Amino acid sequence: MPLRYSQVTPREVYLNRRRFLASAAGLAPLGKSPFSTSEQPTPLKDVTTYNNFYEFGTDKSQPAQLAHTLVTSPWSVRVEGLVAKPRVLDVDEIRKLAPLEERIYRMRCVEGWSMVIPWIGFSLGELIKRVEPLGKARYVAFESFYNSKQMPAARWAGIDFPYVEGLRLDEALNPLTLLCVGLYGDLLPKQNGAPVRLVVPWKYGFKSIKSIARIRFVEKQPPTTWSLSNPREYGFYSNVNPAVDHPRWSQAKERRIGEFFKRDTLPFNGYGGHVSALYSGLDLRKYY
Ligand code: MTE
Repeated sequence: MPLRYSQVTPREVYLNRRRFLASAAGLAPLGKSPFSTSEQPTPLKDVTTYNNFYEFGTDKSQPAQLAHTLVTSPWSVRVEGLVAKPRVLDVDEIRKLAPLEERIYRMRCVEGWSMVIPWIGFSLGELIKRVEPLGKARYVAFESFYNSKQMPAARWAGIDFPYVEGLRLDEALNPLTLLCVGLYGDLLPKQNGAPVRLVVPWKYGFKSIKSIARIRFVEKQPPTTWSLSNPREYGFYSNVNPAVDHPRWSQAKERRIGEFFKRDTLPFNGYGGHVSALYSGLDLRKYY
């Protein structure tokens, strides 16, 4: 197999090149994030051709082939519910809401594979503080865009749409939680959830909802797509936890895409130092 650009170029050189590409795409200025891992990013080709995006089919290769029908411009996100200042934000406004950073995060899918992805975005908290949540707001509910004409394969996916997800407000405010508008120095490809998605690196990949249309602040724990579809197998929290098996398989190990041998999965996907305090006193076997 030929070597890829990201495998032969020194990390600093290609990151600088990425930053240059990003400014060309209107994503500048990009800061460096202290949250980034120094692990080798997964090649762009794998990041953009091995996807879960059930609106465009359940096969990993389908989103890259079918997501071109998604219309991402114009695009707005409704931010509403228990907030003092509800807003409808155009995606161009979102990109300018706070300084963009490149954040290289480890991502762990519930199915047992993992990647390292150079995302672009800013902490979701930057958006949250601008809408001023009311005291009663305890959770944040997210909803993806859904349109059956743009997403004809969705009818065979076996789950209901729009895709919905949720976080406790304190999880949403944790600085690691990324509102993401790009990857690898460019705007988000459609198959990766253009034009705006969530990235929650200490949770299984399905919490990182794509192509967001609505963000709602609520009092009660909101329903989530995978726990609606199969509550025995998927809970609300979905923190990466090698000690709690999925009912049908172990979660102790993972295969990093591009590697042959499996590696140990880390509690909270290695981000425990940033997030474990959110769960002190919570039985993570019960709240999986
Ligand atoms: N968001 C929507 N709207 N629809 C989906 O099917 N799949 C989730 C998540 N977000 C999904 C979604 C799952 S299971 C994973 S693993 C990640 O997106 C995959 O993100 P990636 O393709 O950018 O790696």
